[in-house]
Amino acid sequence: PEAITVAELANRMAERVADVVKALMQSGIMATQNQSIDADTAELIIEEFGHRVTRVSDADVEDVIKTVDDKPEDLLPRPPVITIMGHVDHGKTSLLDKIREANVTSGEAGGITQHIGAYQVTTKGGDVLTFLDTPGHAAFTSMRSRGAQVTDIVVLVVAADDAVMPQTVEAISHAKAAGVPMIVAINKVDKPEANPTKVRTDLLQHEVIVEQMSGDVQDVEVSAHTGQGLDELLEAIALQAEVLELNANPNRAAEGAVIEAQLDVGRGPVATVLVQNGTLKQGDIFVVGEQYGKVRALINDKGERVKEAGPSVPVEVLGLNGTPEAGDVLNVTSTEAQAREIAEYREHAAKEKRAAAGAATTLEQLMMKA
Ligand code: GTP
Ligand code: MG
Repeated sequence: PEAITVAELANRMAERVADVVKALMQSGIMATQNQSIDADTAELIIEEFGHRVTRVSDADVEDVIKTVDDKPEDLLPRPPVITIMGHVDHGKTSLLDKIREANVTSGEAGGITQHIGAYQVTTKGGDVLTFLDTPGHAAFTSMRSRGAQVTDIVVLVVAADDAVMPQTVEAISHAKAAGVPMIVAINKVDKPEANPTKVRTDLLQHEVIVEQMSGDVQDVEVSAHTGQGLDELLEAIALQAEVLELNANPNRAAEGAVIEAQLDVGRGPVATVLVQNGTLKQGDIFVVGEQYGKVRALINDKGERVKEAGPSVPVEVLGLNGTPEAGDVLNVTSTEAQAREIAEYREHAAKEKRAAAGAATTLEQLMMKA
């Protein structure tokens, strides 16, 4: 049975503890501030003080944001989401920049300066691809641990002048753990000291067998400097995506994941959200992790304001009450009260968890001393 301490109840109602103790006494219950009372008693007291009762639980939260399974006939193809991973300095960002540069129409060229960690390109073959540049593996791991599975395909970048390095190995294990197919981009082949064969043989030791080694992992030699092999890489991605048969239902309340978020001096909290299902629209009310809000504006990867964003589209979302964390899940709700209640419930639950962890530490420290 749920219970709450008298002090906590007073705190949540923003009433004085003494007044709550008195009210309890008048109902024939003797309790000090640190004692717990059951949920039914608490409810009576709350009503006596003229407050509204909102019993929010994990189950309530799930009820509100529960995603009804989409009917097969409502599903439409969606672009693949590709995460670029690899060892530091192996050329992840350079590769993305070059792909973007080669695949924007001249009219959009001004948008290149915009740098959000997620963007879409349309290839010469007409395929739309969504790319994410991992700021680091830590972010990928934390996103996964928060339950946000955002990636459909991992492009593993390995510099041909450096071969397999510790973070390459980490990226391989992340991709394997997440069950995401991988494509190997052997980068920097323009360098005189480049040795693509060493990359391929190194990968064998980590059970990544590329096509050139008669395996089934696609491998492409590329150069982010000269642009060599980039079209081939995009084709490899499109091919892999086709096999995955990715789809989503654009005609429903949006669901997405936070890629990055920060507090912007001029604009307030801003989150880059990857829409994963449904369509996010201006004016939508949403909860995202422990924050909530109403979409004031949506800005695409080219820095343009848009009215809505469908599946696999990354957008900056303005109109949050606070800054969420990478990996937080965004759900559109029907009312602001729902969004706020869920956000507050999560915030409270997280606080209690931290407090419990803190208490455990203190106890541990005490034991150590003894
Ligand atoms: P982090 O984000 O720090 O992990 O690095 P990164 O993987 O994004 O690498 P980045 O794109 O910043 O490139 C690192 C260095 O390698 C830069 O000096 C690039 O100019 C250089 N570089 C990247 N790609 C190539 C390439 O294809 N050929 C050559 N010669 N240099 C490259
Ligand atoms: Mg980078």
